[in-house]
Amino acid sequence: MAKEKKLFIGVLGNYTAELKLLLTTLLVLCSVATLLQFIPSRFTISASDLRVCISRVSQPQTQDPPPSSPSTLSSVSQLSRLLSVPPSPSPPPSPPPPPSDSQTLKRDFNPYGSAAYNFITMGAYRGGLNTFAIVGLSSKPLHVYGKPTYECEWAPRVNTTAGKPITTVGYKILPDWGYGHVYTVVIVNCTFSEPVNVDNSGGKLVLYAATSGGGDAKFNLTDRIEVLTESPGSIDTSIYTPSSKPKYDYFYCGSSLYGNLNPQRVREWIAYHVRLFGPRSHFVIHDAGGVHEQVLEVLKPWMELGYVTLQDIRDQERFDGYYHNQFMVVNDCLHRYKFMTKWMFFFDVDEFIYVPPKNTIKTVLDSLSEYSQFTIEQMPMSSKICLSEDYGKTYRKWGFEKLVYKDVKRGIRRDRKYAVQPRSVYATGVHMSQNLGGKTTHKTEGRIKYFHYHGTIAERRESCKMLVNSTELTHEKIPYVLDTTMRDIAGVIKKFELTMIGSTLQGTRQ
Ligand SMILES: *[C@@H]1O[C@H](CO)[C@@H](O)[C@H](O)[C@H]1NC(C)=O
Ligand SMILES: *[C@@H]1O[C@H](CO)[C@@H](O)[C@H](O)[C@H]1NC(C)=O
Ligand SMILES: *[C@@H]1O[C@H](CO)[C@@H](O)[C@H](O)[C@H]1NC(C)=O
Ligand SMILES: *[C@@H]1O[C@H](CO)[C@@H](O)[C@H](O)[C@H]1NC(C)=O
Repeated sequence: MAKEKKLFIGVLGNYTAELKLLLTTLLVLCSVATLLQFIPSRFTISASDLRVCISRVSQPQTQDPPPSSPSTLSSVSQLSRLLSVPPSPSPPPSPPPPPSDSQTLKRDFNPYGSAAYNFITMGAYRGGLNTFAIVGLSSKPLHVYGKPTYECEWAPRVNTTAGKPITTVGYKILPDWGYGHVYTVVIVNCTFSEPVNVDNSGGKLVLYAATSGGGDAKFNLTDRIEVLTESPGSIDTSIYTPSSKPKYDYFYCGSSLYGNLNPQRVREWIAYHVRLFGPRSHFVIHDAGGVHEQVLEVLKPWMELGYVTLQDIRDQERFDGYYHNQFMVVNDCLHRYKFMTKWMFFFDVDEFIYVPPKNTIKTVLDSLSEYSQFTIEQMPMSSKICLSEDYGKTYRKWGFEKLVYKDVKRGIRRDRKYAVQPRSVYATGVHMSQNLGGKTTHKTEGRIKYFHYHGTIAERRESCKMLVNSTELTHEKIPYVLDTTMRDIAGVIKKFELTMIGSTLQGTRQ
């Protein structure tokens, strides 16, 4: 409605401008014409010539044929018509003469190509004896306005009387809260009524992704996708028993890394967290273009020690989803490493998990073991206020060593980060999972928190823009207090890095 109104006013507006011009022109010409009548006949131009000219001025405004006897009057009447009659675009060319009788015209609509894929797979993972998760992307309008359906089939490699292909309904989870763009993230959970491939003879998981009339109501287009193949003897069913002990205690699933990252900040982050999580931990970093050569250099030593796995996901950039498809990436990580760890953490590389002294990550997580998920409170830190005593040496200090002012503005709902026991989780988000079995707790204050240095990870220049010498201050209406918790352990972290990987990274620059 509002749009139509605007359009109407717009059309009138255009006419008004033209009318003004026309009226002015007419006025000038009429006065000239009047004057001319008093001028002796030396001039060959006559008033009537001018009147013709006047009527021409008005012609472009209308499609009317030139008036047979040109007169200013006719132009004026045209004007008044224009003013009183609602503006309409020039009349359409007269339609071809109607066929003898009125009739119904059947029109055709001709589809060409297709604009978004029905399904894009990133990974498919076994999640138990009879269950699988398929992680991928799918056309968002198809999911928002249509009802695509999924069916899963397990096809044994060899048919036996006991092992025939079986199918089940694929249960879809859309974990990205509607944030998707052209594509949205889809997790298809395929849970069969009985265990499949437990004799380890091999087989295939097939996904049937059906548009069910979502793209074209006339067709139910179904794509058959072989998402997972298990070769004979390849599965170890023992890892799915509840008592099996995973390889790691703590696992980090990173979000998509993108942009011109500061290698020094990444260096600090990885050294800090390897020390925090200890030898039974592992970090998966997703490179969406952010792991450039200098960043790779600071990760290399830790990759060589077996702490870091780099996933090159640059190709996902072809498919427009939310923030470099981070929801897909974390779900892939969840299902890919589900049985390799007791706890799995989801947070960013400008965030530092902290447990207060006298605790360790182990004592804290043991105290939370009855929960499938817990969330972690944020300590937002200024990304530019530093201590005046660091004057002249800020560039040598680590980020969490020099950025010591904590934003303590009240009444703001701040993002939280979280950790899960991945075996109980079926799909995950960025700030928490909403598809899981078991309990979630948010009451973790005093046990675990994280310091967030927002805006520092992709900043290649010096962070300290303001040096102050006080325990509290207000800057740009935000109250800050001095918090040296992280600064105080910087020395320990630096020593740890040196012990673990030697001095190879000493020359790292921002
Ligand atoms: C699929 O969903 C079922 C029921 O919610 C769950 O038990 C199973 O673990 C899920 N599978 C995967 C691979 O997440
Ligand atoms: C197994 O049997 C099904 C029909 O029951 C058939 O479609 C499929 O091709 C057979 N597979 C093999 C590997 O023989
Ligand atoms: C479309 O086909 C699939 C199987 O290929 C079926 O499961 C689904 O129910 C069909 N959808 C509709 C709306 O008929
Ligand atoms: C900070 O202030 C204290 C007194 O409030 C003073 O003694 C100290 O020298 C100051 N430090 C710097 C670096 O300005």
